[in-house]
Amino acid sequence: MLEITFAEGRLEVVPEGASVALLVAEEAARPALFTTIDEATGGALTRGLQAAEFTFARSKTCVLLGPGAGLSRVVLVGLGKRADLDMRALEAAGSAAAGALGRAPAGFLAVDALTGEQAAHAALGARLGAYRFDRYRTRESAEDKPRLATLTVLAGEPDIARAARAAWPALEAVAHGVALTRDLVSEPANVLSPPVFAERIAALAYLGLEIETLGPAEMQRLGFGALLGVAMGSDKEPRTVIMRWNGGAADAAPVAFIGKGVTFDSGGISIKPAGGMEDMKWDMAGAGTVVGLMAALAGRQARVNAIGVVGLVENMLSGGAQRPGDVVTSHSGQTIEVLNTDAEGRLVLADMLSYTLERYKPRFMVDLATLTGAIIVGLGHEHAGLFSNDEALAQQLLEAGLATGEALWRMPMGDGYDKLIRSDIADMKNIGGRPGGSITAAQFLKRFVGPGPWAHLDIAGMAWSSKDAPGVPKGATAFGVRLLDRLVAARYEDGASESG
Ligand code: BES
Ligand code: MN
Ligand code: ZN
Repeated sequence: MLEITFAEGRLEVVPEGASVALLVAEEAARPALFTTIDEATGGALTRGLQAAEFTFARSKTCVLLGPGAGLSRVVLVGLGKRADLDMRALEAAGSAAAGALGRAPAGFLAVDALTGEQAAHAALGARLGAYRFDRYRTRESAEDKPRLATLTVLAGEPDIARAARAAWPALEAVAHGVALTRDLVSEPANVLSPPVFAERIAALAYLGLEIETLGPAEMQRLGFGALLGVAMGSDKEPRTVIMRWNGGAADAAPVAFIGKGVTFDSGGISIKPAGGMEDMKWDMAGAGTVVGLMAALAGRQARVNAIGVVGLVENMLSGGAQRPGDVVTSHSGQTIEVLNTDAEGRLVLADMLSYTLERYKPRFMVDLATLTGAIIVGLGHEHAGLFSNDEALAQQLLEAGLATGEALWRMPMGDGYDKLIRSDIADMKNIGGRPGGSITAAQFLKRFVGPGPWAHLDIAGMAWSSKDAPGVPKGATAFGVRLLDRLVAARYEDGASESG
């Protein structure tokens, strides 16, 4: 993990042989440190950026090796136009800087920031972009490992450095939540079975989260017939884990986040094709995201009451597995004809949603799930699908998505789609055919959420990525942690404006 500290923006802070990244806006006057280094190197920076025709466009980098003044390298990073300088641009630049500094164990990042908050967001970008899942690389040489271990953020004037230091702990808590989610989602399914996943969550009690784990007997007693049906084919026991963060008023209803935690989705008896089946170790990303989010809220002591509920189960085949055509009774009492055992995520969520609703009567429920391949057909890897029964909540989520760069696209719902999941022998069937496959999945969930505000995020196309992006190295993305943390901070914490 990249260690971050903050200091004033003075060259004296930078030791001999160090590498320094300078984050500079396009049309603004060069920051003091740029000028200092440029003078100390006899104009190496000015010459370098002229030779490279470098314009400080957003997230573009220019590396100058051995520029003089005892520096090993200077990395120039563009922030784009000062007028467009938002937190996302600073994070992207921080991430690019960390990448370009990568060969030095100790790096320095000087940011042309106006506020401490901005400097802290550059640090956040660096931290998020430097993430790597390293657990199973046992033979990698030291040279091949990224070496940047500490980053000192040189944040201009003393008061800006002070403000950055004050803003950092909350952002660091979010970065920790993101890393936790990425760690969980990256684990292979032979390691992260439902019981092991539950133990990893239980270990987060140190953050002040109250954690309750339900095993199969308790789930049976509660009537989780839909989730337990999915679990039947696996030798691994299922778990339900409930996380509670009490940061708000004692009597205030909580907000609730619900995650699909299928630790491996073989499809069950309706087995998936072999090609690409390994991707289904990521099928617990919704649950992983809920865990990271709860850790973030607890870590930054959010002034809110929040519940996280995850249904953890493996979807496998065996003589005991659920069959196509089986009818199960969900926690809500509604019966479901399971026509395809590969449409298992909605079965898991059905019980988690109605249980959360009944037990907590939350202000809203937001569920996250790698629910359908169809959402990838529709939206690719640019937006997660947003489905909601509530205009205000949908709008708040869209805004939080824009602010954090975790983009959502609202999808339609309606009775016409709901008709497609009518069953001949039960209250509903678990598939609605190919047309509108993501929408019929959402209609299915809607039958378990009651009349209150609810939103479903289908993150199948966003939970992992095959290419590096700013702040998001390829692999598990933790999509949703920052988005939902933002939703809470902007709208649901004591002192935030829910309507404004
Ligand atoms: N976990 C999958 C959805 C998925 C597919 C996520 C590809 C990420 C990438 C889900 O459980 C599933 O299998 N859905 C089926 C539903 C169908 C049987 C109605 C699907 O999308 O094909
Ligand atoms: Mn499936
Ligand atoms: Zn699945």
